Amino acid sequence: MPIRSRIIGLGSYVPERVLTNYDLEKMVDTSHEWILDRTGISERRIASEEEATSDLAYLASQIAIRDAGIKPGDLDFIIVATVTPDMLFPSSACLVQQKLGVQGIFAFDISAACSGFIYALSVADQYIKSGIYRTGLVVGADAFSKVVDWTDRNTCVLFGDGAGAAVLQADSGNSGIISTHLYSDGALWDLLYVPGGGSRNPPSEAMLGNRLQYIKMRGNETFKVAVNTMSEVIKEALKCNGLTPDDIKLFIPHQANLRIIQAISKKLNVPMERFKVNLANYGNTSAASVPIALYETIREGKIEKGDYILLEAFGAGLTWGAALIKW
Ligand code: COA
Repeated sequence: MPIRSRIIGLGSYVPERVLTNYDLEKMVDTSHEWILDRTGISERRIASEEEATSDLAYLASQIAIRDAGIKPGDLDFIIVATVTPDMLFPSSACLVQQKLGVQGIFAFDISAACSGFIYALSVADQYIKSGIYRTGLVVGADAFSKVVDWTDRNTCVLFGDGAGAAVLQADSGNSGIISTHLYSDGALWDLLYVPGGGSRNPPSEAMLGNRLQYIKMRGNETFKVAVNTMSEVIKEALKCNGLTPDDIKLFIPHQANLRIIQAISKKLNVPMERFKVNLANYGNTSAASVPIALYETIREGKIEKGDYILLEAFGAGLTWGAALIKW
């Protein structure tokens, strides 16, 4: 039997503060009805002023480590997928390592926006399958509330904060990560980006005055690309493994917009009941969206040993990807 990486523990964490569509009505020219109708989102969680991405990531990680029945000291590496790190450097993964109190291992961040968790899962899977490392922590965590322009109704209604974590371990059984499929298209970088704060537009009064520290998005175009890329990568993951949509117990898509998931369901001719949807409560939590949805799915007891699940996501970059898992 070849070595596979199996998910042996999951965790998630969302901040306490709830921001509803009705709260947003008081902040920008929008309505609960518009947001619900166009996105499916009712409310989202918002990190406090003191909370940064590594705090969310740490709390989700603690739950995943406990769920796995291991100790932090059993980890061989930590990968955090985020585009809202606590600081430009060090990596948020190093800060999670410090909070977990583990030494003698390596930790790094992956920047693939909303596809980040699937990218991180794929990288971790390669380390484990190769036999070099045995146990790894993979986290998707973002605090988009910190980079959202709360005066821009086109974007501020969409996002929320959170973290999801998975512990992967080498296993010689036939369950685990079966295949991962990653793509990006840098030519579409300007569909979704934060222009300021990096080396292109370093912090300055002019940068702040022009509001470059906030998310810019071309929503309509992003919508179309999201539907096409996620549908295609799902088809590829199925074809590559000789499976059909009927073989998949549950699809776990990135939770950006209910209408995106509905369009994918229509394109693939798979009923909506076979897609996990929880975006009403959290909005788009970027890299945290897929692992939070995965955590909830497993908690709900809907997946049995031997079931196939398919994770899929897209995000800024643009990036997209899928991961087929046999539970
Ligand atoms: N409240 C009320 N009206 C709003 C609004 C809001 N929060 N946001 C936009 N509008 C308005 C627009 O200004 C526009 O008005 P106009 O016709 O007078 O110009 C109108 O609603 C329609 O805008 P449009 O952009 O066509 O709406 P849409 O149905 O495409 O929905 C998004 C907009 C952003 C919800 C949708 O395009 C989307 O979800 N895109 C993908 C974004 C995404 O997933 N990003 C993350 C990727 S990981």
